Formats: sequence, C-alpha cells, structure tokens
Amino acid sequence: MTNYSLKINNKTYSFDVVPDTPLLWVLRDALKLYGTKYGCGIAQCGACTVHIDGLPMRSCSVTIESVKNKSITTIEGLSIKNDHPVQLAWEAEDVPQCGYCQSGQIMTATALLNRIPNPTDDDINRAMKGNICRCGTYSRIRNAIKAAAKNMKP
Ligand code: FES
Ligand code: FES
Repeated sequence: MTNYSLKINNKTYSFDVVPDTPLLWVLRDALKLYGTKYGCGIAQCGACTVHIDGLPMRSCSVTIESVKNKSITTIEGLSIKNDHPVQLAWEAEDVPQCGYCQSGQIMTATALLNRIPNPTDDDINRAMKGNICRCGTYSRIRNAIKAAAKNMKP
C-alpha cells in the first residue's frame, strides 16, 4: 500500500491503496461519488469520464499513481447546485433516457466547450465519439451542446 493525497473537486483526500488502483475505484468505493459510472472498465464507453487537469479522461483506466499531482473534477464538482450551463442545457433539452452514460457525456461536453466555445458539428463528433449511449440520445446531446454554447457566451 502507498499513501496518496489527491485533489478531487477542490478538496484534498488521502488514500492508502496500491499504485495501480484505478481512479474510478477511489471515486466510487472510497469517496462514494457515484455520479461517475462504471460501464466497460476498459476505456471503451466513456461512462467513467472525469476531468484531470481540465482534460476529459477515463477514470476506469488511469491509475491513482498517474494522477497523484493532478486536479480531478467529477460530475459532483462541476457545479454546487447542478446549475452549470451544460447541466441546464441537458435539462432543457431533456437529454437523458436511462441516464447511465450521461455524467460521462456531460463531462466530455464541458471539456469540449471549455476548449472550443462554439463547436461545429465536426468538433462535436470528434469530441463525443468515445462516449457511447445505449439509449441513442445522440441528437439531443448535440442540441444540448449547442444550447450550452449559446448560454456560455460572455
Ligand atoms: S467504464 Fe471507463 S470507459 Fe467504460
Ligand atoms: S441515456 Fe441510457 S445509455 Fe445513455
């Protein structure tokens, strides 16, 4: 076991785990941050997406050792009252069906809009292609990203 100190959602936490423990295990099992989902476990579905130093990453497939000096944001840390413009757009466009993939979708979409404030369809396709939705909510996701882009304009 090794002791790790991690900054998650702007708070610092300490864990005693083996170095190759996936970040997702720490988020869900140790911190009970259940908004980040386990889908495939092999970086193929995007359900477990969080931000690591602002970039969308698959928390099932990054080790705690590899993120020890980085800042991690989960869906719970995106906004205090679930009122981030992307979350509001998701609600307004009624995006989720079963909901399982949606926190990962929102984290990927938010990272996209932070990087490209007015994404084209191609930008959206490129950024979102690794986030799988078994319910097929893709067109509503696209509408919500475009609505959020408008709302995020200064
Ligand atoms: S659970 Fe991590 S990408 Fe599917
Ligand atoms: S809303 Fe059901 S998997 Fe995406």
